[in-house]
Amino acid sequence: MKTVFSGIQPTGKVHLGNLLGAINNWVSLSNEESKNYFCVVDLHSLTTHPDPSKMQENIQETIKVLVSSGINQKNSKIYIQSNVPEHVQLSWILSNFCQIGELQRMTQFKEKSDQLGSHAGILTYPILMAADILIHKANEVPVGDDQTQHLELTRNIVERFNNAYTEYFPLPEKTSGKAGARLMSLRHPDNKMSKSNDDLNGTIYFDDSKDEIIKKFKSSVTDSENEIKFDIENKKGISNLIDIYSTLHDMSHEDVEIKFKNSSYGEFKIEVGETVVSYLEPLREKYESLSDGDISSLIRDHLDDVKDSAKKTMDEVSAIVGV
Ligand code: TYM
Repeated sequence: MKTVFSGIQPTGKVHLGNLLGAINNWVSLSNEESKNYFCVVDLHSLTTHPDPSKMQENIQETIKVLVSSGINQKNSKIYIQSNVPEHVQLSWILSNFCQIGELQRMTQFKEKSDQLGSHAGILTYPILMAADILIHKANEVPVGDDQTQHLELTRNIVERFNNAYTEYFPLPEKTSGKAGARLMSLRHPDNKMSKSNDDLNGTIYFDDSKDEIIKKFKSSVTDSENEIKFDIENKKGISNLIDIYSTLHDMSHEDVEIKFKNSSYGEFKIEVGETVVSYLEPLREKYESLSDGDISSLIRDHLDDVKDSAKKTMDEVSAIVGV
């Protein structure tokens, strides 16, 4: 049976990029015959020095979105990274199989050290990610495209560890959806949609109102032509809108082009906006119906199994390395 692991940082509101790039795939995988671990990685988020007084609220909110998105909890465990100290223990062991140079070459290290100053947490961030994935010996990791390099590094670490000791860890594979793996900002289509975009109108948050969503799509940046055509090099804005529409309607980019052959950009923007509104509506309704108590009891129910799995790996790894 395959084991799936993925994570999300509790740094601000969940946005459409997180949902289409990652969480929707978590939902699909949770309906397959697999063991799934979905983790709110609060320790990773410390690299951004978040406000401690907001941390618990952000964690609760993130878990509520995961539950609302429809993750099948029968074979999925949702948990908080810091509740399972084995993540950090394993990370230390794995750090001995990772070169400083390869950490410094990570695109996200370069980007984040410009924004946050280059502290060691940003440098070693991908090693903790590798530990997250390997603590349950996961072999499948559903993430957006921005995590590709981190997954490659995890695979390198696995190969080196297995060569040094014994074939213990599986080689994890990254999985992404057909579309939506890299959603761009609606205002700055050169940049990915993110929680921390300077221009908040470029990001659709899960709890934006209908009016806000339509307004953001209406003012999305496109180009001076009027052809609805997927061309990621020359028409980034319109390609991003096609990508969103095709993901939510499970259509190919070509079929979207054909459907809107005679439409204006203005009409298409509204169609995409309304599609997103209909997609988010049930999610938000479910979200509103969940109480903090529901989330706390879910976390309690899931934690024992997660801890058992992490402890088993850590005991075995400790024996392998002789500590
Ligand atoms: P985070 O919290 O930035 O994002 C969570 C997930 O959302 C995806 N994502 C996107 N997908 C498409 N378009 C976008 N604009 C977009 N923005 C975000 C991300 O690819 C991710 O899948 N380092 C990770 C968290 C992490 C993790 C892990 C993931 C920690 N340990 C182990 C997988 C396995 C992160 O910062 O995700």
